Amino acid sequence: MPGIVIVGAQWGDEGKGKITDLLADRADAVVRFQGGNNAGHTIVREGVHWKLHLIPSGILYPGKHCVIGNGVVIDPKVLIDELEALRARRVDVSGLRISANAHLIMPYHLLLDSAGEARLGKLQIGTTQRGIGPCYADKAARLGIRLQDLLDEKILKKKIVAAMEPKRLSLRPFEKDPSLDLLTMTEEYLTYGHRLERHIGDTSRLLWELLDEDKTVIFEGAQGAMLDIDHGTYPFVTSSNPLAGAASVGTGVGPRNLDEVWGVSKAYTTRVGAGPFPSELTESLGDTLRERGHEFGTTTGRPRRIGWLDLVALRYASRLNTLGSLVITKLDVLSGLDRIEVCTGYRDNEEAQFEDFPYHQTVLHHASAQSTELAGWKEDLGECRTLSDLPQAAREYLEFIAEHTRVPVTLVGVGPEQDQIIWTEAAKDTIIGRSAVVVD
Ligand code: IMP
Repeated sequence: MPGIVIVGAQWGDEGKGKITDLLADRADAVVRFQGGNNAGHTIVREGVHWKLHLIPSGILYPGKHCVIGNGVVIDPKVLIDELEALRARRVDVSGLRISANAHLIMPYHLLLDSAGEARLGKLQIGTTQRGIGPCYADKAARLGIRLQDLLDEKILKKKIVAAMEPKRLSLRPFEKDPSLDLLTMTEEYLTYGHRLERHIGDTSRLLWELLDEDKTVIFEGAQGAMLDIDHGTYPFVTSSNPLAGAASVGTGVGPRNLDEVWGVSKAYTTRVGAGPFPSELTESLGDTLRERGHEFGTTTGRPRRIGWLDLVALRYASRLNTLGSLVITKLDVLSGLDRIEVCTGYRDNEEAQFEDFPYHQTVLHHASAQSTELAGWKEDLGECRTLSDLPQAAREYLEFIAEHTRVPVTLVGVGPEQDQIIWTEAAKDTIIGRSAVVVD
């Protein structure tokens, strides 16, 4: 012990990478537990940008254990490219360990992802087209290829044949695609296995040992609660569980080893891809915030949809995750507005009102936001390092969020740089905060 879980409390892209990176400085290990290279983190350190898709944020600190857990789906080519890019910038990647049980994204998963989207036409989900859904589908159908399979040519070939057989019809349009040739594919994946072999291991045991030695382990979530396949805005979700509960099964660490859950939310809301978004801003203010907040996907470059902070969804995410700490990022992006709206309830098209997140998708699809208006502020927040440095209206905004979610705000992001962060008094009550410099 202790285990600390960091999850997205919205639709992903909350800035978890920066927060994990910040807390990783005070931890011994960082582990990812779900998702794949549909995620993307940008970390800014001393003006240098680092983009990570699969490798946990802690990799930039020498001597930390970095783990990719069994719940992650891995595109081995992407992983190898990411490792090479880090090595080229002299980052020591020898501490990376990958679960032998993690499933692999295969060339047919990529083709099926884009074909599936094309078939859905207007109903498409807007996936990242990285093969995530088809890979998790094969895992559940027990037709998946796991990292350990790359270490045995015979098994690998047999499993690829078995996995492709039921997909013959859907793969027919790609018959001539060279990436689907059995021999080419087997050779290519065996090479990946050879290159990754030194990183493959029993990561569940490694984490258990670290926790048993009282080391601090951070469980780094990808995406966010509203994209959860069970509890999110299905079917406009990802194919894994970005909730804190998945940190246990996605790493092979028992739930009693998870001591704290931190949720990360922007000071406003964004979403990429299709699906309901009650607090969406369709007027030009949305475009202004998109530009100001650089709201374009790290993975796909797609412009993100923008909305006011949705406290109905945030309360729901807080309940699903049993959040103990809330991190509010990008508060600086809201500077310069005369007024700020916050969604505190939903109204459906028959004027019924909802304070809780509706369980029925029809209600959600017709829901519009009921908002409370708060005062804005003009000041630039980039230099603020304590709560008292913030303009009063910004402080009141944070208080409003904490009051309505009943979760203390422990960290506040005021800019992209690593040091543009406010540690609040409430952070003192957390495992990491006790060892950090808490001002205010
Ligand atoms: P998939 O995960 O590629 O299957 O995409 C399913 C949905 O999740 C789409 O709406 C994506 O835009 C969304 N999604 C997946 N990963 C992320 C992420 O890291 N941030 C934000 N949205 C994501």
